[in-house]
Amino acid sequence: MTVPVITIDGPVSSGKGTVARELARALGWHLLDSGALYRVLGLHAYRRGVAPEDEASLAELARHLPVRFVEQDADTVVELEGEDVSRRIREQDVSNLASRVAALESVRAALLERQHGFAEAPGLVADGRDMGTVVFPRAPLKVFLTASAEERARRRYKQLNDKGIGANLAALIEEIRDRDERDYNRAVAPLRPASDAVELDSTTRSVDAVVADILDEAGRRGLT
Ligand code: C5P
Repeated sequence: MTVPVITIDGPVSSGKGTVARELARALGWHLLDSGALYRVLGLHAYRRGVAPEDEASLAELARHLPVRFVEQDADTVVELEGEDVSRRIREQDVSNLASRVAALESVRAALLERQHGFAEAPGLVADGRDMGTVVFPRAPLKVFLTASAEERARRRYKQLNDKGIGANLAALIEEIRDRDERDYNRAVAPLRPASDAVELDSTTRSVDAVVADILDEAGRRGLT
């Protein structure tokens, strides 16, 4: 029996991480946070002294990446060589490293099989940029989640504020536009909806409402 997969792709801060987590919880399915793999690889390379442009060495590190995702108290702990790096991988320097290593073709190829391994019964919700286009092209339900740049910047602003980190909204909007430009236009695995993806705009909608829409669609397609 093939394991059902729901893919959630979309630009930065579109809410896909939260939506994917809530959806996986509602369905009792596994979750793949593919961005965390690129983040862990960026951190691992940094700690091993491997330069972000050394593609062959990075691909080798990616093939044997000592990462584990451990479910704990309704949350996922990300471990690198047994160390909890869940918070560390969200820091800005690691975000930058992640986007650099993610632009390398052989790194993406090396992580492909790893990602396929997450598809275990009863099902998988896969969150990323190329889940529906490259990693799980035969997924029975593909979602492309968007929101306006202004709304995504506002969400990021609130997240940072909640953590006590000061931020400038206008600068965040600029930053998001720059990242969109890079993600949509990069040569390797550019961000784009799969041709058979359902596009959802979360600008004026809550996480719960978006999750409910996806659950309805999954039900219509006989996945639940
Ligand atoms: O989603 P997140 O911000 O954690 O992703 C970290 C980095 O990995 C981003 O630069 C993103 O472009 C990249 N990424 C990717 N393909 C994925 C998931 C993330 O290139 N499937």
